Amino acid sequence: MSSTLSHNIKPLRPAAPNPGFGAEVTAIDLRAIDDAGFETIRQAWIDHQFLLFRGQSLTDHDLIAFSRRFGELDHAPVQENGQRFVPGLPEIYIVSNVIQDGAAIGSLGAGEAVWHTDMSYLPKPPKASMLYALEIPPSGGDTSFCDMYAAFDSLPDNLRARATGRRVKHDGTYNSGGYIRQGVTPADDPREAPGALHPLVCIHPESGRRMLYLGRRRMAWIEGMDLPESAAFLDELWAYATEPALCFTHRWRVGDLVLWDNRCTMHRRDPFDATARRIMHRTQIKGAAPPAA
Ligand code: SIN
Repeated sequence: MSSTLSHNIKPLRPAAPNPGFGAEVTAIDLRAIDDAGFETIRQAWIDHQFLLFRGQSLTDHDLIAFSRRFGELDHAPVQENGQRFVPGLPEIYIVSNVIQDGAAIGSLGAGEAVWHTDMSYLPKPPKASMLYALEIPPSGGDTSFCDMYAAFDSLPDNLRARATGRRVKHDGTYNSGGYIRQGVTPADDPREAPGALHPLVCIHPESGRRMLYLGRRRMAWIEGMDLPESAAFLDELWAYATEPALCFTHRWRVGDLVLWDNRCTMHRRDPFDATARRIMHRTQIKGAAPPAA
């Protein structure tokens, strides 16, 4: 499989202004890849920032085994309530709206999950995440990705110069569904909220490319600016980062696995009918170092 695998990597949007962003790896069973096949996938993940694998039949242990090829796994993030991870497998975060015996089996409900980078409020956020679709609603619940290299490249010179050398506070109070994480007391002032400071413009440690690193908008703050100035500047940067022409929206099928580079992408999820069922299992691969300029 490995000698021909590079022929199975198909860009998802070849006509887009950022045509390398996202690729599908076709005709592959992730339970059966060899080391050379894995190296092709790893390089494609660096080159394309997110990869789609359709038609997989993975157990939780298969998902963990494939994820571990990329490195040590992070445990599921702390969430609002409900079951956070698969019993006995703290590496698998459950994203679901399903209520069973009166309790949520996972996190994030059925509402919108706003644009974010996974766990960027930590000093060393995961370098990658994988999301595997077990049950999906008939409509809604699509997941979009944005390209933080293209976001940086699209900035006018004056914004690029203003952003370079700055750090941004990444809030750890709220998750992307808008829920307060367990054990956190919300603060009104982002400067006092829990979370890490990271450079606003980072260099990707593997590709060497420059990218914007925003994390999430809510309760973000640019160090050294007063709150209104920081909010206005962040709003300008976010408009470039989430420019629709540079983003991709994935419509899920059961058996899809999407792997993204958490350093140079952000993602969001559309809301869906709360009476429908959506169950996704996610792993997150530890970052080797904090994001760096
Ligand atoms: C996530 O933020 O990892 C969840 C995205 C989704 O539910 O599609």
